[in-house]
Amino acid sequence: MPMRRDIQFMRNGRVVHLDGPPMLTLLDYLRLHEHATGTKEGCAEGDCGACTVVLRRVSGGEIVYQPVNSCILLAGQADGADVITVEDLAEGSALHPVQQAMVDKHGSQCGFCTPGFVMALFGLYHAPHRANLDRHAVNDWIAGNLCRCTGYRPIVDAALAACGDDGNDKFAKQDDAAARALAALDDDADVFAGTDQRFFAAPASIAALATLYQQHPDATLIGGATDVGLWITKQLRDLPKIIWLGRVKDLDGIADTDAAITFGAAVSQEAARRHLAAIDPDAGEMMRRFASLQVRNAGTIGGNIANGSPIGDTPPVLIALGATLMLQAGNATRTLPLENFFIAYGKQDRAKGEFVHSVSVPKLKPNERFRCYKVSKRFDQDISAVLAAFKVTLDGNRIADARIAFGGMAGTPKRAAATEAALRGLDLGKPETWDTAIAKLDSDYQPLTDQRGSSAYRSEVARGLLRKALIEIGGKPTQATRVVGIREAANAS
Ligand SMILES: Cc1cc2nc3c(=O)[nH]c(=O)nc-3n(C[C@H](O)[C@H](O)[C@H](O)COP(=O)(O)OP(=O)(O)OC[C@H]3O[C@@H](n4cnc5c(N)ncnc54)[C@H](O)[C@@H]3O)c2cc1C
Ligand code: FES
Ligand code: FES
Repeated sequence: MPMRRDIQFMRNGRVVHLDGPPMLTLLDYLRLHEHATGTKEGCAEGDCGACTVVLRRVSGGEIVYQPVNSCILLAGQADGADVITVEDLAEGSALHPVQQAMVDKHGSQCGFCTPGFVMALFGLYHAPHRANLDRHAVNDWIAGNLCRCTGYRPIVDAALAACGDDGNDKFAKQDDAAARALAALDDDADVFAGTDQRFFAAPASIAALATLYQQHPDATLIGGATDVGLWITKQLRDLPKIIWLGRVKDLDGIADTDAAITFGAAVSQEAARRHLAAIDPDAGEMMRRFASLQVRNAGTIGGNIANGSPIGDTPPVLIALGATLMLQAGNATRTLPLENFFIAYGKQDRAKGEFVHSVSVPKLKPNERFRCYKVSKRFDQDISAVLAAFKVTLDGNRIADARIAFGGMAGTPKRAAATEAALRGLDLGKPETWDTAIAKLDSDYQPLTDQRGSSAYRSEVARGLLRKALIEIGGKPTQATRVVGIREAANAS
């Protein structure tokens, strides 16, 4: 396979070539190298959205416009994309429709957040669902942008006004030309920018990744860098060797069959969202509340598993659904039940040079029911205090089997073995018989107290969520028992 020694991306119709340094963020490239200071640095940790830029890429044969946080995205992750910033939108003195709408609807005061909002709305302007927008959809879209002056109503008004036009801005008119330019960049080469001691690498195949990682088991793998980016910007760590998974063909595939969905490790959380929602609307609702659009566009399913966080949102859901993880080292692969991957806090069952290849998630059978709930201090863009996931196998109205997993209740995402055993045989029509089984959660988990919740609070929440799941599964869900969100919209029963 050919080797390319630099990173390539488009900026305003020209190709940028970069050969490092490996930890350079896209934001620092824009502000310090190009002096394109329209893109702001607010938090430098993916929370505020002030640094939002849009990556125009070809995905599945279609042009897509993806808002991302440039503060925690490495410049190398822009390889193969057209990087669009706030400076690029206006045509001479004529503002772009989203900029004009922000002016007309009074969507800006101090202005610090405004470039980020404009770029998020620019992404929305080019989204496939722009014609069917309502205020809820706009709120979801901009959940990753914070404004401390204006309030969000005028910004939502601006979004609705701008997306009401024909969508034919100068970028839409250039999409064909952009697709050709991006295709010319898509060269199938393994990228290796730097030296053996300090590099940014982006292998193009699983075989090349496996070989490179065996040669450099001390390298840092990145999927979306939505965790690793903060090691750079907040912990000021030196990461001399970086291997990005975003160019690895077949690691970003989704195989959707009647029985299961298999996600390659590099599948973005946003791409996984609708597939998980198709398994069960609650899983889709969890993904809607997972971070923000900018984070989900970059962050990967593999990264959310491999980081081993006890408060990661997808692992408990995937464990409850019965997922199987595939790992690869060199040419050798192995599979294990996902729950077995998490050994202890900060310790996963992953050898040196071994990487997460994919995760396979069984679909629900006709007699299986699923519920999951995310409890966090803020509704949007917040890490869970408790994440509860339940799969119940029914035999008539009795529980034949149960798989329960929680996040935020132990040092790892963990199943509730004692509670599962106690639930077997219970009658869903007799709530007065559930208490002993629900109380078993206290022997399965002794949660920590931290800034997200006390131990007692977490235990109380866990018991409440199990009861809620049993009520919902046992009878027809009512307004009183429903979570807000897409389950409501889907009117699942
Ligand atoms: C603002 C913000 C909000 C967030 N909100 C949430 C949230 O609501 N819920 C949640 O769960 N998380 C949240 N996160 C955390 C983060 O987004 C997730 O953990 C994300 O899934 C990480 O994926 P990634 O691809 O970006 O991982 P990376 O940062 O690229 O990598 C994370 C770790 O996994 C390793 N790794 C990555 N891919 C592989 C692989 N294929 N094989 C082996 N190792 C690998 C890396 O070396 C690193 O150790 C948030 C983060 C931010 C910045
Ligand atoms: S600067 Fe706040 S998200 Fe990037
Ligand atoms: S206008 Fe000041 S932070 Fe949004």
